[in-house]
Amino acid sequence: MQLKKQTTPQFSGPRSTPLPGLGPLVDPALQPLIAEARRVAQLAYCPHSHFPVGAAIEAEGGEVCVGCNVENASFGLTICAERNAAFQMVSHGRRQIRTVVIYTPTAEPTAPCGACRQVLNEFGPRARVVSVCDGPGSLDTTLDRLLPHAFGPGNLSGLT
Ligand code: THU
Repeated sequence: MQLKKQTTPQFSGPRSTPLPGLGPLVDPALQPLIAEARRVAQLAYCPHSHFPVGAAIEAEGGEVCVGCNVENASFGLTICAERNAAFQMVSHGRRQIRTVVIYTPTAEPTAPCGACRQVLNEFGPRARVVSVCDGPGSLDTTLDRLLPHAFGPGNLSGLT
């Protein structure tokens, strides 16, 4: 069987909203979390995508938990760095995220995927989310900006 070469969808035209929070990194207090995110990215298991990601979470209370992406030959079983870090945090007895820093060895910062936004929302609906990369730019925003109108634990008590 000959499979036709596949392409990814291309979208053009203006975005409905601008992207706030993109700019040079200014907050020096983030340096320890950035260092942790960069360190753990080197441990990523990503033989399929070759796209390493590191995440460092500062929990309420100051504890830092990290995670990298761990891929699988059955691609859908891959776990992203951010979710891995969030689950590490819970396993360390913490349930509130203050800040997440995400590092990718790219020219532009990488925002967390939709699934990770949803998982982060469970433990930090107002958390600060910072993405850094090898270029000068960064994304410094909050989860409620990345996931407006989020579905969260509160929705489960809304049955009539
Ligand atoms: N990935 C993350 O770790 N976090 C994200 O938010 C987006 C994607 C990983 C999953 C997979 O191992 C690789 O990046 C390519 O999608």
